[in-house]
Amino acid sequence: MTTPTIELMSQHGSVRHYKPDPVPESMIEGIVAAGQRASTSSNLQTYSVVATTDSAKKEQLMEISGGQRHIIQAPVFLLWCADFSRLKRVCLHQGYELNADYLENFLIAAVDAAIASQNAGLAAESLGLGFCYLGAIRNQPRRVISLFDLPELVFPVFGMTLGWPVKAPLIRPRLPLKAVLHWDTYQQDDLPLLEEYDQAMIETGIYRGRQVDQPDQDPAIYGWMEHSARRVSKPSRPQLREAVMEAGFSLR
Ligand SMILES: Cc1cc2nc3c(=O)[nH]c(=O)nc-3n(C[C@H](O)[C@H](O)[C@H](O)COP(=O)(O)O)c2cc1C
Repeated sequence: MTTPTIELMSQHGSVRHYKPDPVPESMIEGIVAAGQRASTSSNLQTYSVVATTDSAKKEQLMEISGGQRHIIQAPVFLLWCADFSRLKRVCLHQGYELNADYLENFLIAAVDAAIASQNAGLAAESLGLGFCYLGAIRNQPRRVISLFDLPELVFPVFGMTLGWPVKAPLIRPRLPLKAVLHWDTYQQDDLPLLEEYDQAMIETGIYRGRQVDQPDQDPAIYGWMEHSARRVSKPSRPQLREAVMEAGFSLR
């Protein structure tokens, strides 16, 4: 079963090498407008996007993100933010007091931003553009907040580089469907499926020279499981909660 939309989705690969050609502003607007068509929790639309083509800003973002060069190479950078600031202004206007004190509020906003961004990304790909998400901007969220003048209750969830790909990206295999799609009850006996996936990932060669910390393993046995296990056995941005709370989300 396929459709042109599913076909487009199947061709997705993150792009980290861009041509210098600019992306017309009208195209950026069209892409974000397509993102806006995504479902959003209670139609609250609790996200905002900050677009920039500014080299000085991109330099800083590259530094924040641990030197990822596609940030300065890409003609456009989109910052996707969880945003309750707009609704704070709405409450003020309507004579209410905003109550965004709960983890639920932050989760709603982060999910809204993610869903809209993926719609936007797909729209971009339909135009022949490529993109790459950037969670690494959360390395230093306070710096990102000040770089873009984000007010209270606007938090940068992730960035996205956008531009014309130098070449078609690698299409990374995904987990076998059976490991992800459960019918009626959750199945935990997925090791054979994961081993099968490990092999598929090893065969792409993408882990060569990119093993996580620790001494390198034989590339013939370093697959998705070892790579992912190494990643998730380390703390992940432990300062993040504090920065989110500082931005005005109490996370109660
Ligand atoms: C929220 C999010 C954050 C990401 N952050 C980064 C990042 O900081 N740097 C990067 O190169 N790729 C980043 N990626 C891209 C993933 O590494 C990529 O989507 C994944 O490896 C699957 O590869 P594919 O998109 O080419 O299929 C991120 C993806 C997501 C969804």
